[in-house]
Amino acid sequence: MSVFYEQTLKTLLESGGIERSWEVLAVCAGTRDRDVLTSAGFTRGVISNLDRDVAPDEFAPFSWERLDAEALDRPDDSVDVSVVHAGLHHCASPHRALAEMYRVARHGVLVFEARDSASMRAAVRLGVADAYEIEAVLDQEGRAGGHRNTAVPNHVYRWTERDVIKTVASIDPAVTPAVEFFHDVEVPTDRLSLSRRPLVRIGGRLVGLAGGVVARAFPKQGNRFAFHVDKRRAVGHPWLVEQDESMVLDPSWVEPRFRARGSAQSPTAGRRWGRQNN
Ligand SMILES: C[S@@+](CC[C@H](N)C(=O)[O-])C[C@H]1O[C@@H](n2cnc3c(N)ncnc32)[C@H](O)[C@@H]1O
Repeated sequence: MSVFYEQTLKTLLESGGIERSWEVLAVCAGTRDRDVLTSAGFTRGVISNLDRDVAPDEFAPFSWERLDAEALDRPDDSVDVSVVHAGLHHCASPHRALAEMYRVARHGVLVFEARDSASMRAAVRLGVADAYEIEAVLDQEGRAGGHRNTAVPNHVYRWTERDVIKTVASIDPAVTPAVEFFHDVEVPTDRLSLSRRPLVRIGGRLVGLAGGVVARAFPKQGNRFAFHVDKRRAVGHPWLVEQDESMVLDPSWVEPRFRARGSAQSPTAGRRWGRQNN
């Protein structure tokens, strides 16, 4: 799993999508994130999780903070990039956590999660992939590791590319989001090889072989993916302009296109709203 994490970071560093000198905030994170981020050359930032207090230098060169990914105790645009690996599907609202990561990041958000597809839904029906992560809780002796790190196994929320675009467009309606996707195939062969049923073990080996073929032939159909939301490359909508630190409708865009309802007034007269119009 870490190979995909490392490889994706390497690709983004080479393309300039992410820079090593940036301050990183890793959420739902642990030692894997520390190791991968360190080997990629990052030296500044915070490893955060809900779960525990740790020795002061356990995550060096990063610091450690107890942060809830769904309510990050951080100001807007306060880190360069936020990262999550295999964490959103443990949150009560993966969308809420993504919105928080987007809010606090100046430049971008990098997410590694499971991808939804017809073949993945078939795998769940056949019992070769999980709808709920019972094993994650068993790994923590039945006490944690599930939904918001409780003993209740979490549902595995899987994303499609379209889900990601729709979600980010809803989080920030002022721009057309710039999102880059990376794909990978991960076959749960370890899990299947532990089954008490010989047929499942044999099936697991076959699925493992088939997975390798699928990965090479149809890389975008993999069951895992990563997405990088690059806030710097997002394109502002032409109907908005900034005024007094708020986004408002641009009369020069609106007035040639819309008629005011029930009055001769301009459709934009007296109407303003900020970026969060709720
Ligand atoms: C599958 S582990 C992934 C850990 C690490 N990122 C990795 O790849 O090894 C999911 C982690 O999410 C954490 N977690 C669950 N809900 C969270 C939340 N709302 N905020 C922060 N961390 C959360 C859990 O404590 C757990 O450590």
